[in-house]
Amino acid sequence: MSTFSLSLQQKDNPFFTGQSSSLFSTGVARTVLGFHQQIDAYKPTPLVALDHLAKELGIGKILVKDESYRFDLNAFKVLGGSYAIARCVCQKQGITLDEFSFDSLKGQEPVTFATATDGNHGRGVAWAAQQLGQKAVVYMPKGAAKERVDNIIKLGAECIVTDLNYDDAVRLACKNADDNGWLMVQDTAWEGYTEIPAWIMQGYMTMASEACDQLEALGITQPTHTILQAGVGALAGGAMGYLANRYGADTFTGIVAEPDKADCIYQSGCHPDGAAVNVTGDLDTIMAGLACGEPNPMGWEILKSCSRHFLSVEDKVAALGMRILGNPLPGDDVVISGESGAIGIGLLYAIARHPDAARIMESLKLDEHSVVLLFNTEGDTDPVNYRDVVWEGKYAV
Ligand SMILES: Cc1ncc(COP(=O)(O)O)c(C=O)c1O
Repeated sequence: MSTFSLSLQQKDNPFFTGQSSSLFSTGVARTVLGFHQQIDAYKPTPLVALDHLAKELGIGKILVKDESYRFDLNAFKVLGGSYAIARCVCQKQGITLDEFSFDSLKGQEPVTFATATDGNHGRGVAWAAQQLGQKAVVYMPKGAAKERVDNIIKLGAECIVTDLNYDDAVRLACKNADDNGWLMVQDTAWEGYTEIPAWIMQGYMTMASEACDQLEALGITQPTHTILQAGVGALAGGAMGYLANRYGADTFTGIVAEPDKADCIYQSGCHPDGAAVNVTGDLDTIMAGLACGEPNPMGWEILKSCSRHFLSVEDKVAALGMRILGNPLPGDDVVISGESGAIGIGLLYAIARHPDAARIMESLKLDEHSVVLLFNTEGDTDPVNYRDVVWEGKYAV
């Protein structure tokens, strides 16, 4: 096998304390899972063992939680939006989540939920609003893929494509929500806006808790490593928070991976005091779901205390991961992975084939005993770009 060198910037986390948060306890995760299980179409997504690839890369095990199967929505995001919207509805009706049922909503005046999204979160919010008989208005950044817009409109939501980047689209959605009396359901937090984003992060725990239960069913006590991709860091924070509570943050190596064009978590890890750092500009990475420049403060808090390493990588890493997952070694299953879903596997492969592989593997404690848990957070949510990359070889190494 040839070696090749993709850009992989690594920052070892000097702020690690191992301190987890009760927001992401195993008890809360059970409540959230109980809610998701009430949804008719609920079933756990597969955990795929890529044993042949693991052997090829000199790693013990590689397990990919495949969220392309989540509620037929092709991404994990709905887990957060659905839980947050249900909690908002409960709050409005003055009932607890235990008392909540889909039937209890019949005949009630619907609420309008607003959000901004690269696609997946908005699709999740539109789907949840439709399931719960509510309304949704969704704002998207410039350059939003047509398929992603269409998928939101199909779910009955109003969808507005702006000429702004993601973070500015969030601000616009927020202002319009204020002006119109809509309820903002955003997957990031800011001062004075934390309750709904916390519910969204808790919603994501279902993905992590299913994965851990599936590992146990395979006779694996726990992962030694996890690689979590970050946009604002809500997903990574929710999943890392859960893993830290379930196993202890010092029992595994938590790695956060981001595109180098939108690496706000990595940059925050490089800040001398560990303050959250915003990245500005067009954020024009192919990993649309990770094209966010402003860390979610709750996510950053968890990632700062529980992650071991932050990695900032070029777009080619994700493209490589898409091709590997879609064209596996004989005996491994095919996983259809979109740009933001594939960064973890692309990173593992890019490390193993790097001219400096031995040093990087050692620094991340990766070896033939490692059990690496990855999350394919989306399938081919932009099918045109999927084919450009996987068929036509765009972003080749
Ligand atoms: C497919 C996919 N993966 C990962 C993420 C990252 O989530 P977060 O912004 O919470 O870091 C997103 C966000 O939209 C996404 O769509």
